[in-house]
Amino acid sequence: MSELSVNHLLGIKYLNKKDIELIFETADHFKEVINRPIKKVPSLRDITIANIFFENSTRTKLSFELAEKRLSADVINFAASSSSVNKGETLIDTVNNILSMKVDMVVMRHPNPGAGIFLSKHVNSCIVNAGDGAHEHPSQALLDSYSIREKLGEVKGKKVVIVGDILHSRVALSNIFALQLQGAEVKVCGPKSLMPHYIESLGVEVETDLQKALEWCDVANMLRIQRERMDLSYFPSTREYVLQYGLNKKRLEALDKEIVIMHPGPINRGVEISSDIADSKHSIILDQVQNGVAVRMAILYLLASKI
Ligand code: CP
Repeated sequence: MSELSVNHLLGIKYLNKKDIELIFETADHFKEVINRPIKKVPSLRDITIANIFFENSTRTKLSFELAEKRLSADVINFAASSSSVNKGETLIDTVNNILSMKVDMVVMRHPNPGAGIFLSKHVNSCIVNAGDGAHEHPSQALLDSYSIREKLGEVKGKKVVIVGDILHSRVALSNIFALQLQGAEVKVCGPKSLMPHYIESLGVEVETDLQKALEWCDVANMLRIQRERMDLSYFPSTREYVLQYGLNKKRLEALDKEIVIMHPGPINRGVEISSDIADSKHSIILDQVQNGVAVRMAILYLLASKI
């Protein structure tokens, strides 16, 4: 029987190509399940999963919770804002207390890069990284690649540009690793001030001209400006950013081809993407969200088989 090469999902960096193929084949099965009238399977009955979120989330939190419930797992949710973390309890103590209630897996979002890796070394449980600061967001990159595969047949050979705030983006880093593992070509596009200094060492070309990047690509993945992670001003004004890096109808109509538009959410309409394009036939933004449930079911199912 095929199994993942890892016991935790901490980042795409730790996966291999076969892991991604296995996750996608398993997600294909679960996508069929969740389109049935009865959307539930007993695969994780008797498994208890804690979703612990130290940062805001809409999509990832609800998607993991729904995936867990579709697999018949028992689910508990922990929001740091209403917990004893506010009384000074450490991350390890918090998680060990949760685990002592016979919890089998932990899905964690945390503002600190490497928080999931740290936890996996200090507690005895399967850890799923649901986003750790500006480091990785592996389940997002997997659902993004799964959505490209669904739309274009395969990821291999496709040209993908990731546009916007690369510096503060865990989605960008996880997508770069995932796309390269599958044989896609990746460029990043945005102001130089929002590019990490090491970006070219990852085998990624930088393009500062959005129109040139759009002419090159099959897929454009538009990222939000992550103001919550900014301690400085990285560009003169939002208006200036929109003029140079905002995706709109005029830019798409100037191309001699159709491209696929993606966004991990949450969208800032009128900033990185205009409202009409976010809602257009070119956009697969809501397909990404829908696929997230099947992909997360696959991740949890495959990791639970290793407990
Ligand atoms: N894409 C994503 O991570 O969205 P949330 O922050 O709403 O989970």
